[in-house]
Amino acid sequence: MGEPPVSTARVRELLDPSRLDREPDDSAGYLDLLGDTEEYRRTRAQRAMHSGLVASIYQRWWRPALTVLLSQGATVEEEGREAVRLLDLGGPMRVLDVACGPGNFTRLFASALSGDGLAVGLDASEPMLARAVRDNAVPRAGYLRADARRLPFPTASFDAVCCYAALYLVPEPFTVLSEMLRVLAPGGRLALMTSLRPDAEPLRTAASGLAWANGLRLFDREELTGVLRSAGLVDIRQRAGGFAQFVSGRRPLD
Ligand SMILES: C[S@@+](CC[C@H](N)C(=O)[O-])C[C@H]1O[C@@H](n2cnc3c(N)ncnc32)[C@H](O)[C@@H]1O
Repeated sequence: MGEPPVSTARVRELLDPSRLDREPDDSAGYLDLLGDTEEYRRTRAQRAMHSGLVASIYQRWWRPALTVLLSQGATVEEEGREAVRLLDLGGPMRVLDVACGPGNFTRLFASALSGDGLAVGLDASEPMLARAVRDNAVPRAGYLRADARRLPFPTASFDAVCCYAALYLVPEPFTVLSEMLRVLAPGGRLALMTSLRPDAEPLRTAASGLAWANGLRLFDREELTGVLRSAGLVDIRQRAGGFAQFVSGRRPLD
């Protein structure tokens, strides 16, 4: 018998009670802090993330297609290995996977940990989290339904924080980023994968128009690295690939 999947109790232990608006509900196999709300379905892209159909094909079809479209040449598996490396995962670390979707990366992060390590996958979409519980419930992974714009954790509570393929569809990406930076502990690492606005015209204007029409945001080359630098992160790295960028950094020890 292998180790059992993580119970919601371990995720609950990490929560900051002063940041909760309601009593957490764990009846669906993940901890739900949001209840009934339409708040996360404003744009076309957001609505897609709340569709049961998209959630059911996301890991197998949607995400690989997205990688081909954005990253040109990379595979999701390579992206995952790169994230584990950038976050320097291992041992009893606490990892937060913000906007985890169906837990495709959370599972990978959990498998890189040992001992008391825990990977928390956080998302706002019920269908995505239902898939996470169904397909990616493994030892050291736990799932939470919450808003990435107001993370329900104390300051400096994670050794690694990741957000892949989501900042471009959240209406307030810089609020999410500042929350991710808040919960990142001294010595901890942050990894982001998001969109990159092309520098050259006419591609720049065409891509910006297409993204805007679908409620997506394209980030300029220095936008995210600039935020990380202002927040005091060091070892900031950026890799551009097609319409995607991979950004990482480390919070120095106090
Ligand atoms: C494209 S999926 C990314 C899944 C996974 N990280 C990956 O790289 O494949 C984007 C996710 O962001 C989530 N999301 C969007 N806005 C959010 C918010 N305010 N709070 C939490 N999750 C959010 C959506 O529900 C969706 O599951």
